[in-house]
Amino acid sequence: MRLKDTGLTAAELKAQVKKYMIETYERMDFVADSAEGVYMYDENGEAYLDFYAGIAVNTLGNCHPAVVKAVQEQAATIMHTFNYPYTIPQAVLSKEICETIGMDKVFYQNSGAEANEAMIKMARKWGIENIGPDAWHIITAKKSFHGRTFGAMTATGQPDSAIQKGFGDLTPGFVYADYNDLESFKAAYVEGKTCAIMFEPVQGEGGVWPAKEEFIKGIREFCDEKGILLCLDEVQAGWGRCGEFMCYQTYGVQPDIVSMAKAMGGGMPIGGIACNDKAASAFGPGTHGSTYAGHPVACAASLAVLRELKAGNWAANAKAMGDYFAEELLKIPGVVAERHRGLFVGAVLEDGISAVEVKRACIRNKFLVTAIGTSIIRMVPPLVITKENVDEACARLAKSIAEVKG
Ligand SMILES: Cc1ncc(COP(=O)(O)O)c(C=O)c1O
Repeated sequence: MRLKDTGLTAAELKAQVKKYMIETYERMDFVADSAEGVYMYDENGEAYLDFYAGIAVNTLGNCHPAVVKAVQEQAATIMHTFNYPYTIPQAVLSKEICETIGMDKVFYQNSGAEANEAMIKMARKWGIENIGPDAWHIITAKKSFHGRTFGAMTATGQPDSAIQKGFGDLTPGFVYADYNDLESFKAAYVEGKTCAIMFEPVQGEGGVWPAKEEFIKGIREFCDEKGILLCLDEVQAGWGRCGEFMCYQTYGVQPDIVSMAKAMGGGMPIGGIACNDKAASAFGPGTHGSTYAGHPVACAASLAVLRELKAGNWAANAKAMGDYFAEELLKIPGVVAERHRGLFVGAVLEDGISAVEVKRACIRNKFLVTAIGTSIIRMVPPLVITKENVDEACARLAKSIAEVKG
């Protein structure tokens, strides 16, 4: 549906949203009317360079033809069934995911938060069955982000944030340790109580912090030594963004369970976990489920994404473009540092330059990015970008920073 089909002006549409919707988001002041490739178009046909990708979702760019075709064909064949009959997209996708990332089993969900709920539930049940009745506690990282459902928001190590405050009692069983600090995680472990360690291999909301090599490898060894599970949240980092299909593959470390979503659907809502047989043993009939999980249309879209990511070698492009982007960012006046893993990129702004103001200026300059905290601009563009797109992004960012500096 396009704005012109509604008979509304942009101002009327915005007023309608304010009247009829509960608004928890700071809206960008334009209507997303259509999109193609690395551009989104507003109601006036103005092009926005999209380095936001619907928050790391549109990994092949907006409306990629292979994804659109898969959605259209599947929607016209069989749209929804629930999980009682076997469905073809689920079956084919599960095998291809497992073979691509070295896992044994997949369980589908509909979003990142739900994927993390599944991971948390599996880890807790596994702990109780394999370690002991009290072994359902999970160590997660401070400044993490795992989603907005009760389990995921409690796993999120941000106790003073709007994510957690004001909702009454949270889910018991989480303790927080310092990210990238092996000793802090070791100190949080309690024999007979801890069942798992869970963190993002790149902290996004925390400010784009990739895990240090020695940290992630040390955690794997520690989990093996103590007989507990390593659970990675790759909702944002997975599916090509960090330079391999999964981010953990860039470290040569295999988790027991990994959660995924966002790019997995290339624009369709889908999430899930992949895990080894050991962890999967905790789930049996009736232990977990969801009406829409493994939806045929979402799975068909996901299969198209997986095949296109591999055929186009887009993870390698993400690595090459990420490295180039990082070099170019450091040439921009007002950018004092960069952090990246592939195309999971953060530009750190000079003290006194507000990231939120720069983000707003970027949007005015038709460049879509997010701000994290006071000083970081986060960019998670489609993995199909070219050097020309990166150059254009840097020019728009430089202009926006200069405008904010005055
Ligand atoms: C690392 C991570 N985990 C979980 C989530 C939650 O995913 P969703 O918004 O699909 O529930 C996000 C979303 O930004 C995320 O970045």
